[in-house]
Amino acid sequence: MRIICAKDYKDVSRKAANIISAQVILKPDCVLGLATGSSPIGTYQQLIRWYEKGDLDFAHVRTVNLDEYVGLSKDHDQSYAYFMRQNFFDHINIDQANCNIPNGMNPDAEAECARYDAVIKSLGGIDLQLLGLGPNGHIGFNEPCDEFVKGTNKVSLTKETIDANARFFASRDEVPKFAYTMGIGSIVNAQRVLMVVNGANKAQAVRDCFFGPISPRAPGSILQLHPDFTLVADEAALSLVKDLL
Ligand code: F6R
Repeated sequence: MRIICAKDYKDVSRKAANIISAQVILKPDCVLGLATGSSPIGTYQQLIRWYEKGDLDFAHVRTVNLDEYVGLSKDHDQSYAYFMRQNFFDHINIDQANCNIPNGMNPDAEAECARYDAVIKSLGGIDLQLLGLGPNGHIGFNEPCDEFVKGTNKVSLTKETIDANARFFASRDEVPKFAYTMGIGSIVNAQRVLMVVNGANKAQAVRDCFFGPISPRAPGSILQLHPDFTLVADEAALSLVKDLL
C-alpha cells in the first residue's frame, strides 16, 4: 500500500490524474475502472484539460464503472451513467460504445449481475481501478457486511449511504434504496487500484480501512492486501493517521 499525502482536493485530483494519464499513455487501449461521486470529479476535470491540450488520447480506452442505482435509467440526471457523460465522457474522445456501466433498469438482478461480470471478463479484467471511499468504508457500493462479495451484486444501501447521497437528490425519499455494484473480487483483481479521498468526514474510514484489521465490516480494508494499491488523500482525510505515516 502506497499513501500519497496531498495538500487539498485540487492536489489530490492532479496527482490522481497524473497516475491515470500515465496508464493511458503506457497502454492506449487500457481498461479503466471508473467511479462516480464527488471525489473523482476534480480528477476527471484535470484529465479533460490535458485531453484538450492534446496530451491525452482516449480513442482506444475501454471503461467499466463500479456501480449504478437500481431503478434509474441512463438518462435520469442522478444516474451514474448520466454522471459519467456529464463529468467525463462527453468531454473527451472516448467511444461511448466502449463504456460499460450496470443497467439500473434491468429488474432481473441475477441476469444483470451475471451480464456485468461477463463484460468485465470479456475485457480481460481491469488495468487500473479508480475508487472513492464511503464514509462507512464502502468501495463501489459494497457496504459493510459479514463477508466480502466476489462478483457483481445487488445491494441494499445503508442508511448512512442514503443520507450521504441525499445531497444530490431533491429529497432523501428520492434516493434509490438499491444499487448494482461491481464485487470486491473484481476490484481487487484489477492490476492497479487508485483511491482518491478528501475531507475530514472520511478520516475515520481511512483509519478503519487502512490502519485497522482487514474485515468486510470496513470493505476498503481488503485493499491492504493488494500488491499495487495507491491511496491519494488530503491532509483532512489523513488527520487521524498522521502519526502513523
Ligand atoms: C461511486 C462509488 C462510491 C463512492 C463513495 C464516495 O461510484 O462507488 O463508493 O466512491 O460513496 O462518494 P463521494 O466521492 O461522493 O464522497
